[in-house]
Amino acid sequence: MTSVGIDAIEIWTGNLELDLPGTFAPAKGEDPEKYTKGLGLQSSSFPDSYEDIVTMGANAAYRLMDRKGLEPVDIGRIDVATESAFDNSKPVSTYIAGCLEDVFEGDFHHANKGERKFACVAGTQSVDDAYNWIRAGRNRGRAALVIATDTALYARDDPGEATQGAGAVAMLIDEDPNIVELSTEQGYGSADETDFLKPQQQFPSVDGKRSVQVYLARMREALEDYESVAGDTHPDNFSYIPFHTPFPGMVRKAAALGYRNVIRDTDVEDTLADEIGRQPRPEAFGDDDAFLEATKEYTEALTETDHYQTWYEGTIEPTLTISRSVGNWYTGSVHVARASALQHALENDVDLAGEKLLVGSYGSGAQAEVHAETVRDGWREEIGALSIDDQLERRYSLSFAEYEAIHDAHNHDKDVETTELTTPEHEFVFDGWGRMGERKYRFVE
Ligand code: HMG
Repeated sequence: MTSVGIDAIEIWTGNLELDLPGTFAPAKGEDPEKYTKGLGLQSSSFPDSYEDIVTMGANAAYRLMDRKGLEPVDIGRIDVATESAFDNSKPVSTYIAGCLEDVFEGDFHHANKGERKFACVAGTQSVDDAYNWIRAGRNRGRAALVIATDTALYARDDPGEATQGAGAVAMLIDEDPNIVELSTEQGYGSADETDFLKPQQQFPSVDGKRSVQVYLARMREALEDYESVAGDTHPDNFSYIPFHTPFPGMVRKAAALGYRNVIRDTDVEDTLADEIGRQPRPEAFGDDDAFLEATKEYTEALTETDHYQTWYEGTIEPTLTISRSVGNWYTGSVHVARASALQHALENDVDLAGEKLLVGSYGSGAQAEVHAETVRDGWREEIGALSIDDQLERRYSLSFAEYEAIHDAHNHDKDVETTELTTPEHEFVFDGWGRMGERKYRFVE
């Protein structure tokens, strides 16, 4: 059977940075440890006034195509995942294709273009579409470009303001991939939920605390659904488990729930029984509340064990490194987590080829998806080519007053004059409005 998966990846961060414990927390009169210890965030990425979802997505795609020596004729689909689209008709992929056609020979006139929304589930669904298109033999030898791009901004003073971010991930999906091969098996947890939504509005309406519970419930269902097709999972089966990461504290909760589920009836539960007892089973309780309370207590005790903490440090913590510095990128978030884990393996000289990842995507509204990936021989070279650490280093650090101004500059309801805080170099920039209200772009050498 043809092996299909992610052949190459590029990450593009917004060019600005907001230091959360150092700049944001003091201005809000909050304890910096809410950010560092509670949410697990150090800083967030922001777009400068000339950046948006198109420039960031096009810049990630441009770097990827340039590095891989690709021309438009090599690409048969461009799918964009975003929750920040500014056009309800013309897909963002057409804007990005237009940008890329300005710098590459040839065009994408015979490439299929589309757009999806559903946070990082949408990025994963776009990868799935590409996978199915290739496996069905409809790709005519061409690869697919999947771009997840978002400016994840919240209204000023919304609790979500703590978890903002902006950036893009471009992925090349191809046969015989260099980075990871995708599993055929998938699990879903999906329900009509009203916890985070943007009904014809730029900034989300959020029930933050409920959104955390909905994330956990859907992720548990997706894991159970995955196990129903792939067989029982065991923590030792996976080198890393990248999750959708709105903020690392969310993953801390998801990891504990996931671990508790997968160790049930395994040698790990047996080993830990002397220390923390066995997991509560529903049949032993008279009512749901008592069972849930016992489960909560067991999970808390579980996360205190050396066994769990060693697993967490090795399998989950490495997925969070980039996220701590960039915040939530909605559609790109799980793809950033995967890249972060692979970077960790590269830096620590881990022999990862043939090893497995378990990947948990999520989108509010709400849906979780779980699948496995097998790391391929070419992963080192591809991950070694990532420039995200240099990009993070180069970001301009905002004062609080500059943060307020740049938030206003990106607020569609405000018409404010702003000056650029950084100088674009070798990248696409927003270049004003066209005659039909379209956004225009140009490449700056
Ligand atoms: P909040 O009210 O700002 O913060 O809301 P909090 O008071 O709940 O504190 C956050 C954590 O920091 C808590 O930890 C506190 O205890 C801790 P927890 O109890 O939850 O483990 N804390 C401290 N720790 C140490 N020292 C201190 C301290 N103070 C507090 N001094 C919330 C937080 C996440 C709700 C808010 O930021 C929010 O609404 N965010 C947006 C929604 C969101 O991110 N939801 C996540 C799940 S939904 C999802 O992932 C999908 C999403 O990406 C959307 C999509 O694209 O579809 C969001």
